[in-house]
Amino acid sequence: MTVFDVRLITEEERRATFDVLNRSLHGKRVADDLWSRMGVSWPAAHKFGAFEGDAAIGIASSFDTEVAVPGGRVLPVAAVDGVGVRADRTRRGVLTALMAAQLAEVAERGLPLAMLHASEPTIYGRFGYGSAALGKTVRVSRPAARLHERVPVAGEVRLLGPEEAVKEIPAVYRRIGLHRPGMMARPEAWWPAGHERHLVPEERYTVAVHSGPDGVDGFVTYETIGRRSLDSPDEGAVLNVYDLHAAGPAALAGLWRFLLSVDLVSAVHARHRPVDEPLAVMLTDHRHASTLSVEDDLWLRLVDVEAALAARGYRAAEPVVVAVADRQLASNSGQYEVGPDGARRTSAEPDLVLEVDTLGMLYLGQWSATALAQAGRIEVRDPAALTRADELFTTVTAPWNGTHF
Ligand SMILES: CC(C)(COP(=O)(O)OP(=O)(O)OC[C@H]1O[C@@H](n2cnc3c(N)ncnc32)[C@H](O)[C@@H]1OP(=O)(O)O)[C@@H](O)C(=O)NCCC(=O)NCCS
Repeated sequence: MTVFDVRLITEEERRATFDVLNRSLHGKRVADDLWSRMGVSWPAAHKFGAFEGDAAIGIASSFDTEVAVPGGRVLPVAAVDGVGVRADRTRRGVLTALMAAQLAEVAERGLPLAMLHASEPTIYGRFGYGSAALGKTVRVSRPAARLHERVPVAGEVRLLGPEEAVKEIPAVYRRIGLHRPGMMARPEAWWPAGHERHLVPEERYTVAVHSGPDGVDGFVTYETIGRRSLDSPDEGAVLNVYDLHAAGPAALAGLWRFLLSVDLVSAVHARHRPVDEPLAVMLTDHRHASTLSVEDDLWLRLVDVEAALAARGYRAAEPVVVAVADRQLASNSGQYEVGPDGARRTSAEPDLVLEVDTLGMLYLGQWSATALAQAGRIEVRDPAALTRADELFTTVTAPWNGTHF
């Protein structure tokens, strides 16, 4: 049996715990010069390590930021950005102990939400996380694809050098704003690892910005993957979009128009785009855009159920009473009345009964209550309440996170 301690890491343990994470994800060892640039993105704060003696065997890291929720408010959130256990110490409860410590600390600090991207969808449901926003992977074929003539045209696209991009893009991202539920603020410490390291030391990505009548209103970061080989000497490259944000339809169209205009390219590939992004219907022939997959993107955990439910907006419908069961944070368990005026605890009999991970799936508007009931995730005590819950929780815009963390 493995005996280990779980505790917050010290400054001196940052690099060793980062190595545990990196190796658990089969990453290459980060060289000293890269660490000197991106180590700032791995501060000791809010990082729980599992240790056997002095040796790190597991890590659960998070940073504080903000996330948009339906109705337009932006809430504090713990963004869980690194979870890994040394390969020779898995399946012995190390992650379970790390998640318990992390969740308790997030709750104690009063953050209403926690969120993450999962390497595998089977890991986090048991800790109360639900699959809260999906993302689609699209591939647009070149040179066949053309934007439809009625797609808005306004502004121009220009390439930025890596140093320029590092300076300019954070302000562009802030300016675009958190316009979809699930989008997050990118704290200063996120940029060195999330963006700059691909640009400056690795020179892996190209950055282009779109300027409209009011200034820069969109950007795209992409890598070019060569596909030419002895067997296919004429094959064009693939542009693989890493990060694309636009303040509105004209900027979105301008960036796609640019991507589709790059020479010697046979396809543009973009992973984890919003499921309702209308790319296919922006083309003259929508078959030139294929949706290759739709996958879980953002996982959400309501840490303070009452505060989180009260903070989001709801559409008009008669209220419903929802009973929530939370195995890790027992104080969340209980009944909540949810209506167009908000949410509060109640002692009334529940119409719908669910676990806290299912509430995470409902919260950003990705899944309807009816769909979750059909999947056996909601126990329906009053069938009429299911339709009301559909109305209340529905959002016009699909949720999307759009940040690699
Ligand atoms: C995923 C990972 C962190 C799990 O750590 P762990 O210490 O083995 O997890 P635990 O022993 O606490 O497992 C808790 C439960 O989750 C299950 N579980 C853990 N990892 C799982 C996985 N990858 N797939 C399915 N189930 C998993 C265990 O079987 C166990 O179930 P049980 O309680 O019914 O027995 C570890 O396998 C790892 O580091 N993987 C590679 C890196 C990675 O994927 N990190 C996640 C990034 S989002």
